[in-house]
Amino acid sequence: MIVTTAQLFKHAYGKYAVGAYNINNAEQAMGLFRGAIESQAPFIIQISKGARAYTDKRMLEAIIRAAGDIFPEAIFAVHLDHGDEQTCYECIDSGFFSSVMIDASHDPFDKNAEISKRVVDRAHAKGISVEAELGMLGGVEEDIQVDEGHAMLTNPAEAEEFVKRTGCDSLACAIGTSHGAFKFKGKQSLHFNVLEQIKAKLPGFPLVMHGSSSVPQDEVARINAAGGTIAGSMGVDPNEYLPAAKLGVTKVNIDTDGRLVWTRVHREFFRDKPSEFDFRPPGKIFIAEYAKFIASRNHLLGSAGQLSDLRASLGK
Ligand code: G3H
Ligand code: 13P
Ligand code: ZN
Repeated sequence: MIVTTAQLFKHAYGKYAVGAYNINNAEQAMGLFRGAIESQAPFIIQISKGARAYTDKRMLEAIIRAAGDIFPEAIFAVHLDHGDEQTCYECIDSGFFSSVMIDASHDPFDKNAEISKRVVDRAHAKGISVEAELGMLGGVEEDIQVDEGHAMLTNPAEAEEFVKRTGCDSLACAIGTSHGAFKFKGKQSLHFNVLEQIKAKLPGFPLVMHGSSSVPQDEVARINAAGGTIAGSMGVDPNEYLPAAKLGVTKVNIDTDGRLVWTRVHREFFRDKPSEFDFRPPGKIFIAEYAKFIASRNHLLGSAGQLSDLRASLGK
């Protein structure tokens, strides 16, 4: 059942975070829905601009609708990830999306606020909620001076002003993470102090954490042992998801980790079976492994086991 992102956030806020997982194809969708049902968790499906262009945006919509029919127990929202203004309008008008993200975080504060406000006005007219972003995600590295590092993080006072000006429904904040597999050099923690300050300025307001993949080191080691060369990659400590959720992080974006599962499965499969050329056997392994991964993340996010309470609270 597709619900609004606002309904998911209302149930989760301050207790757990909803996992937001990117999908590009049918195998990812199958693994995601299976893992969510196994762990009895609500979730958000994210579609990026790249995912919409990969095959055809109508293909992804059809896959998601079909998955909703195959797994009638599932409760989820459909979200545009990192949209520009035009793509937001397309998704708002499509009637398929629960929420959109307008990412104008690369623009100066005033311009970001202006663009985000325009998208909010269009989205709210259709009952769709909007995630906006303030601050620049980037690798906050141990050898960068604290001041320099903080320059990339979201400023709590600006966050309050930005939400007031735009009327956005959730805010993606930079609290030390970055996209991809190379987030940190050495061990690094989320900037909980910044999160606490943002929460103090915006009590009860849903915050979003991008770049949340944990880049499991055993996964990376297996990829590299099977011919990969992604040494030195590092992710977020997944034991920090729940403490972040208690501080208002209601949505945690995970994409890279799913790609690592795919890469490990396929590299190992074809290394061990060099004469194989049927893509279905590794595809089936990927679906099962991705489902396992999704369930494990939902347990760490605290969303596992929330489905029946959420259903009751929705009156379904
Ligand atoms: O934050 C970006 C997501 O990981 C989506 O990546 O634009 O390559 O689909 P993508
Ligand atoms: P990762 O690259 O850490 O998976 O982040 C994904 C993300 O933020 C999608 O918007
Ligand atoms: Zn992101």
